Order: sequence, then structure tokens, then C-alpha cells
Amino acid sequence: MRRMHLFEIEDQPWLPSSIRNGITDFLQFAVEQGNLYKNFSVRLAKVLRAQQVEQIVDLCAGGGGPGLSMLKNIPEINAGKVKIHLTDYYPNLPAFAELASTNPHCFTYTAEPVSALDVPSHLKGFRTLFSSFHHFDQTDAQTIIADAINSRQGIAIAESTQRHPLLIAYMFVTPILVLITSPFQKPFRWSRLFWTYAIPIVPIAVAFDGIVSCLRTYTPAELMGLVANIPNSSQYDWDAGVERIGFLPIGVTYLIGTPKSLPE
Ligand SMILES: C[S@@+](CC[C@H](N)C(=O)[O-])C[C@H]1O[C@@H](n2cnc3c(N)ncnc32)[C@H](O)[C@@H]1O
Repeated sequence: MRRMHLFEIEDQPWLPSSIRNGITDFLQFAVEQGNLYKNFSVRLAKVLRAQQVEQIVDLCAGGGGPGLSMLKNIPEINAGKVKIHLTDYYPNLPAFAELASTNPHCFTYTAEPVSALDVPSHLKGFRTLFSSFHHFDQTDAQTIIADAINSRQGIAIAESTQRHPLLIAYMFVTPILVLITSPFQKPFRWSRLFWTYAIPIVPIAVAFDGIVSCLRTYTPAELMGLVANIPNSSQYDWDAGVERIGFLPIGVTYLIGTPKSLPE
């Protein structure tokens, strides 16, 4: 299946934040309930240990679901030795605030917009992008990786979508899941119920964006192809692949880049 760079509803600047937050609230819920990043977190944990990382800067953090997954699956984060700083171009502030208040030893956040294409130099730490790298075309995708290299920060990209018929079929079921789970998603918000039951834009947008996300997701070979053309990428070690989810023929596509130690 060829990669198609179509548009997603949640990327549109005109979209009211209450609808965008409704979409990312569902993603947070789905990631947490499905523990989708469990195996990937174990892989990431080894990298964080080897690199002696003390802070993760989560770009495109959405509702923060992957952050919770890391908290659950990486002991150093649970122990407060590695912090997670949440950022997004359209920050879901109620979700960020809820995570920071319930897990103050783990989460901090930037309330102002932070673009993954222009990470402020004061935000130091290992960069992560969960289920968001497909939002960027090849030029922007390379800009994100190149900036991590130029700032000498590690970077991990993990995508829960794939160009796989099973995942695309699953996206057609998501409106039903949104309708069933909306009242139980955190934080509770009347606006989400309004945009789910009164005017059901959230269930439609979750399915539409989910299908488009699958079609836009890079394969491990494409990710490595992007890296190969970036200046100084040879100064980093790269690992790309798919971390299977249970017995299913689908999984989390990942790319991890870490700076090679400099010669003494
Ligand atoms: C599909 S959501 C993923 C959210 C979260 N990482 C997760 O896995 O649940 C994609 C996120 O990317 C954010 N985003 C899109 N373009 C961005 C940009 N240029 N810089 C930072 N965030 C961006 C959106 O606001 C949205 O929250």
C-alpha cells in the first residue's frame, strides 16, 4: 500500500479546541486501556537507561496517553528519576493539567503551543513523538529528526497506526467505541459529551483521522530512508522496526536514534 499524505481534521487550525481535545481524549483512553505501547516502552526503557536520560520531551503529546503508558511500563519514570515534559502545538490543557496534578513526580508541561518543527532550545531532553510523526510530510519529518541531531538529543518515534488492512478496518469501529467510552474518559468534560452525542463530530473525526493516519504512516524502511538523507545522521545509532502487539499481525512502528559516544 503506497503512502498517501492526506489531511486530518484535527490538524485544521479552525477546529475548536473542545473538539480537538475530544479526539485526543479518546486517543489517550484507547492507548491506556489497550496498553498499546507496553512492548515499545520496554525497548525505550533500555535506551533511556543506556543514555542516562533524566527528562523526556514528549512532542505532539495530545491527551498524554503514551506518557501514562511510559509511566506504567518504565520503572525509572514511576520512581520519578525520569520526568516527562508534555508539549503540543494545540495543547490539550485540561488533560495536561490532570496528568500533572495526579502524577506530579512524573509530568510537567508547557501550556503555550510548541511546534515539533521548532522545539525551543530551553526544552532539553530525549524527544518522543507518539502516533504523530505521520502528520509530517517527508521534508518536515526530516526537519524534526535533523533538529534532534543538531541539538544532540535522542529521539524516539512510535506509531500505533500502520498501512495495514486490519488497522484500517478497526478505524471503522472506533465511532462505536467513542460513543460507549466518552463518559468514562478523563478528564470529564460536558463539551466532549456535546460533541459526541448532540452533534457527533468527535466519533466521525476519530474514524476519519484514524483511516488517514494509517494511510500516512511511514514503514520502518521509509523511516530509515528519511534518516539516510539527513546530514550528520551517521553520528547517531538508528534502530527501526515493528514491535508486535500480542499475537496480532500488527504493531507499533518505531524509529529510535541515539547519539554515538564521541571519541575521547
Ligand atoms: C494523533 S494525535 C497523537 C497524540 C498523542 N501523542 C497520542 O499518541 O495519543 C497528534 C497530535 O499532534 C499534534 N500536532 C500536530 N501538528 C503538530 C506540530 N506541528 N507540532 C506539535 N504538535 C503537533 C496535534 O495537536 C495532536 O495532539
